[in-house]
Amino acid sequence: MVWLAESASSVYPVFDPASPFAEAIYSLFLKVLAISAVIFLIVAGLITVAVIRFRDKTGGNGEVPKQDFGSHKQEIFWLVGPVIIVVWLAAISAKLVFTVNAVPQAHPDAGEQPDEEIEVRGHQWFWEVKYPGHGIVSANEVHLPVGKKIRIKLTSEDVIHSFWVPQLTRKMDAIPGRDNYFWIGASKPGVYQGRCTEFCGMVHAWMNFKVYAHDEAEWEEWIAAHTKDPELPTGGLAAAGQKIFETATCIDCHMISGVGGTTMIAPDLTHFSSRGEIGGGVFVNNRENLEKWLSDPQKWKPGCKMPNFKLDPEELQQVVAFLESLK
Ligand code: CUA
Repeated sequence: MVWLAESASSVYPVFDPASPFAEAIYSLFLKVLAISAVIFLIVAGLITVAVIRFRDKTGGNGEVPKQDFGSHKQEIFWLVGPVIIVVWLAAISAKLVFTVNAVPQAHPDAGEQPDEEIEVRGHQWFWEVKYPGHGIVSANEVHLPVGKKIRIKLTSEDVIHSFWVPQLTRKMDAIPGRDNYFWIGASKPGVYQGRCTEFCGMVHAWMNFKVYAHDEAEWEEWIAAHTKDPELPTGGLAAAGQKIFETATCIDCHMISGVGGTTMIAPDLTHFSSRGEIGGGVFVNNRENLEKWLSDPQKWKPGCKMPNFKLDPEELQQVVAFLESLK
């Protein structure tokens, strides 16, 4: 199975687990795949033998080969064999559930305390991410320290979403009015792709996110940089852009710590320029793409809540400069 895993890992992240939870899921998957392959080969082999060996060789005179009826030995074999296989599959699946499952071990009342707690809230169509221990709010990116046991508290603002990082953890539904708890972790530093895996409306496909797993020094650095409010511009294009942000209703939907706003409607932009992507994975975050995005969000993410503000070229440059100053 190694060749399969190696050729597939670059294309399908489920073949490249990077956490104890994902490893356990992957290992079960390989076992089920192996037993299914063996059963398939036996059944396909028997059918092939039957088709070749017992085919009608008489030229169609209607003669039927010898038939077997009432063989207790065969009946017991075909009954007990599958039962053993099914019970074994159920047992290893149940073991996996207890290994990776959120409930009950990850529930705050269960007593097993995480190294870090992160709150994730699904919105149409972005992920709000909070670090209550550090007072940090962000969006569409989850940052975590490598080798730690992290608990995610997951919920939704509107409809059912589903949070999945194939290399790091199980899938978990984000359900409005309900908190779901589960563990996540990463064995090695890296960037891991996450997606919404429950159809949640028109731009479900652009509800992607990334998980950044940092080593200890990098994690401390990230925390230190993000617990501070960004330094606001004192003049020039960026300051003019801030004025537009505050007066052209951007602030009614987006939060920038130190400036104002709300996190309930649209992604927090406090440290926007440190983010890797725009619009839940629509664009890589750079100047050119930011200009494209701001010029016509509906063109790139049709149905999202951000309207086209019809900024003139000068205003566009000012808003871009402001957003890029949010380090
Ligand atoms: Cu959120 Cu699909």
